[in-house]
Amino acid sequence: MARRKLVAGNWKMHGSLGSLSELDGVAAAARQAPGIDVAVAVPFTLIAPAALRVPGLAIGAEDVHEAERGAHTGCVSAAMVKEAGATFTLAGHSERRADQHETSHDAWAKAAAAHRAGLRVILCCGETEAEHNAGRAERVVQSQIEKSVPDDADGDWFTLAYEPRWAIGTGRTPTLEQIGAMHAIARAKLATMIGDRAQAVRILYGGSVTGDNAGAILAVEHVDGALVGGASLTAAKFVPIIAAAADA
Ligand code: PGA
Repeated sequence: MARRKLVAGNWKMHGSLGSLSELDGVAAAARQAPGIDVAVAVPFTLIAPAALRVPGLAIGAEDVHEAERGAHTGCVSAAMVKEAGATFTLAGHSERRADQHETSHDAWAKAAAAHRAGLRVILCCGETEAEHNAGRAERVVQSQIEKSVPDDADGDWFTLAYEPRWAIGTGRTPTLEQIGAMHAIARAKLATMIGDRAQAVRILYGGSVTGDNAGAILAVEHVDGALVGGASLTAAKFVPIIAAAADA
């Protein structure tokens, strides 16, 4: 099945009103690549100004709370980010799993809450370096998928991102063979859960994607796009990845 490629940026805790000008170049590149989808997740405070500045570009949140509302000081709901202009959110990013001790069950609850609020979701999975070295990557990723992917996931609203934690922000990437193998495993696992709908779910690769390696990674079977951290912060670095996806 043909799946549209998706290139998604993740600004993490970077950026300011001043850096939103980077999105102008990203939006222009996205307009020149009508065959693919481009999206950028930004800090909560930048969602509304980003959505106003580049209305043609999908702007998202990096996280949402699993509850619709309530006494949760410091948290932000899916409806709130949607009202601010977000069309999607990340869920279960490995930095939230590590820093905020989020579990796969938490990621599931956040993905479900986001979907109920009308957001698309990019749900992240991926093994740590210790798990990788112990030969446990496959089992860890299968278990994360099992526990975090909602039963009603489909390609319209749900995207999976495979991001080996040891490749995030390190400049190290798995081999293309390893990426292909893990993506095939992830899709097979999805198929056991949601059947044929797994064929329409995009599976992104994330972890040290750059303009230099994007073309090769995006050509791997079952790789339907990229989730990009550091290289999404400037148009100069992000646009080549968008161009590579458009050519893939
Ligand atoms: P990176 O981050 O591209 O900086 O490695 C990827 C991510 O965390 O999504």
